[in-house]
Amino acid sequence: MEQSMIKEATAYINDNLTEAPEIGLILGSGLGVLAEKIENPVTFPYKDIPHFPESTVSGHKGQLVTGELEGKQVIAMQGRFHYYEGYSMQQVTFPVRVMKELGIHSIMITNAAGGINKLFKPGDLMLITDHINNMGDNPLLGPNDETLGERFPDMSQVYDEAYLRHANDCAARLGLNVQEGVYVGNTGPAYETPAEINMLRTFGGDAVGMSTVPEVIAAEHAGLRVLGISCISNMAAGILDQPLTHHEVIETTEQVREDFLRFVKEIIRTLPNN
Ligand code: 6GU
Repeated sequence: MEQSMIKEATAYINDNLTEAPEIGLILGSGLGVLAEKIENPVTFPYKDIPHFPESTVSGHKGQLVTGELEGKQVIAMQGRFHYYEGYSMQQVTFPVRVMKELGIHSIMITNAAGGINKLFKPGDLMLITDHINNMGDNPLLGPNDETLGERFPDMSQVYDEAYLRHANDCAARLGLNVQEGVYVGNTGPAYETPAEINMLRTFGGDAVGMSTVPEVIAAEHAGLRVLGISCISNMAAGILDQPLTHHEVIETTEQVREDFLRFVKEIIRTLPNN
């Protein structure tokens, strides 16, 4: 079932492409503008792609954008599917499967996240070095399709070491101060309580969000090289004496938009081919 759905979605996209994408991009809340920098774009609204779910959250566009970015062939998800919207883990990760089938070898996954680490500030960019799946679900549950990946994928080296070094080099070159840390994936849609944030800090989390973990697990399963970047849009509950709002999340990502764009473009421009 899954396999034929992947093939049908891939065939639909392929019919409208001249060049195969090399790099996949998943653009988080407020970060979708990067897709507007893609040259000679061919766009695919999710609603037109066979078997694609449709995105529901405001601030998300809901389309795939393919074309050239900084000399590389890319395919970007402008808006993603969130578990809290009611999609299954398989639906959330379906686009990763399709992008892999289209030919990508690497994926850059971005998000807006709350800062757990007290040394972080809203507006910081954080390279994800590891994650904690706190969603109580996993996209690989159920029968394993051996053509997609192995039954028990190793998760000890998910966030590619060479890509992390590369991203840090790019940040240094651009004079950007970039953090590193562990991303905790929670389901949402409620933000955490202060007690939950204290627990997650004790567990080793540095940032918390409602996405990324499912896509990263599917990407690892598919044998993709992964780079993850969080935009710390706000501090998590209990750190600052103020309530959390989705508005603040969007506001902050808009403020760091230029740094984020420069950073991702530089990473792609100088990304080694092997
Ligand atoms: Cl504080 N929590 C979660 N789960 N997601 C977020 C966030 C916090 N801030 C932005 N996204």
